[in-house]
This record gives sequence, structure tokens and C-alpha cells, in this order.
Amino acid sequence: MSSLDTTSGRDGSALHLTGVSKRFGGVQAVADVDLDVGHGHRVSVIGPNGAGKSSLFNTIAGEYKPTAGRIEMLGEDVTGWSIQRRAHAGLVRTFQTSRLFTGVSVADNLYLALCGLPRSVNRLTNADRDDDRRARARELAERVGLRARLDAVVGDLSHGEQRQLELAMALGGNARVLMLDEPAAGLSPSERGLLTSLLEDLDREITLLLIEHDMDIALRVAERVVVMADGQKVLEGTPAEVRSSALVRSIYLGGDLHAS
Ligand SMILES: Nc1ncnc2c1ncn2[C@@H]1O[C@H](COP(=O)(O)OP(=O)(O)O)[C@@H](O)[C@H]1O
Ligand SMILES: [Mg+2]
Repeated sequence: MSSLDTTSGRDGSALHLTGVSKRFGGVQAVADVDLDVGHGHRVSVIGPNGAGKSSLFNTIAGEYKPTAGRIEMLGEDVTGWSIQRRAHAGLVRTFQTSRLFTGVSVADNLYLALCGLPRSVNRLTNADRDDDRRARARELAERVGLRARLDAVVGDLSHGEQRQLELAMALGGNARVLMLDEPAAGLSPSERGLLTSLLEDLDREITLLLIEHDMDIALRVAERVVVMADGQKVLEGTPAEVRSSALVRSIYLGGDLHAS
């Protein structure tokens, strides 16, 4: 059996969700979601605003405690684990809104990412002597095309460069399961192209969960697509199945689904 073969059961799962729900008062943000993602697989999560995509990520990451259900990662039940413990086990995510330190350099942000949680600029005080992490920071910048921007202050980067940096920081955390929340939001077409190729070239050891509003990217990068609406998983299939789905078309009112 190849390491990518997950058809024989959940031993091959990077992530396995059973009946996961998250309620905020009267709002059922995530409703009874089952999901199985094999090692090294790429899954896109799509759906209209308010569908529960970010809440699902937050619940998987441990930011939100599920109201019901069970979350297994890499064969372990992590439902009761802290955010830090999940991160330490290789669960890494980016946020829909950036959490970069905008006042310091690209190199310093990468250095802090390599230091792990909790991140604080105070950790930069003894950073000069840390040659290993500094070298790794340069490698990471190289991987996402930011080598020439290492000394730039993050606040001076373009929006696209900031997203590249977020991806590099996520990769620096020894990610085994990587969750990206709308990484292409606000990017220009050429920046989207670069991001897409970075995602396509991602190490196959890393399992990727991608929330993406840009249907071209969502359907190109993933081999499976999960469609959410009103907190529920309403469809799961291949990009081709999702593209031709009348249900998906009706959810998006025909406006958003003209991926090539
Ligand atoms: N922290 C929160 N407190 C209260 N309601 C929330 C919170 N986070 C999300 N919600 C609600 O959950 C629903 C799903 O939101 P969200 O997960 O952000 O959707 P999506 O990412 O698909 O746009 C929305 O109705 C939203 O208002
Ligand atoms: Mg969201």
C-alpha cells in the first residue's frame, strides 16, 4: 500500500472528523461535519460567506471547543488538546486576517515563526546569536520567493508578499497538516498565479486544507473539494464533480463558478 492510499481506512488519515459541531448561542456555525483527509492529500473547503468554513478551521485548530464530535489528527484523538499541543504535533494554520508583526523585518518574522509558540517580538533580543534559525529563515524566504525581501519591514511589503510570508511562516512550523484560510484574498492576478504554484509545489508530506473563495485556485490545487453551507457539509467530491454540480451552482447563484 502506498503512503497516499487512504481507501483502506483511517489509519492513513491525517485528519478525521466525526460529527463535529460548533454552536454560538443560536448560531449553528458548524453542524455535524464528518471529514476524512488522507496523508498528503489536498482538500479545498468552499462555500458562501457565513457557511462555517473558518469556524471549522478554528475548531480543528483548537481555538474553538466543539459543541459535539471528535477530531483525530495523525491517528490521535486531539479533541481535548490545547492549540499549542496541536501545533506542536504539526497542525499549522493561517488566519483569514493577517497576524504578521508588521513593524519588524521579513527575516525577524520568519525567525519568530521558527521559535514556535508563543510568538513575541521580545524573543528577538537574543536572536542575533541564533545562526541555525537565521539560516532556516533564509531558506524559507527562498522557498516562497522572498529571498530578496529578507530585510524589508513587513509593513512595506505588498499584500501578495505578506501572504507569501504567511505561507513561509506556516511551513517553518514543521507543518504536517496545513490549513490556509483564504490565502488569495486581496491578491492581484499575478500574485494569485504565484501563490497557486507555491501551493501546487508544496511538499507532498504536508496535508493541505484550503479555504479559498477563488474557485480557480480552490479547484486547481485540491483533488477533493468540500462544499459547506449553513454549517453543514453539503457536498464532497472531485473538482470536476463540484464544477458540474447543480447544487453548488444554486448555492453560488451561478455567479462564482466559472473556473477553467
Ligand atoms: N466567535 C464567534 N462568535 C459568534 N458567532 C460566530 C463566531 N465565529 C463565527 N460565528 C458565526 O458562525 C457562522 C459561520 O461563520 P464563519 O465560520 O466565519 O463562516 P465562513 O468562514 O464560511 O464565512 C456565522 O454566522 C458567524 O457569524
Ligand atoms: Mg471565513
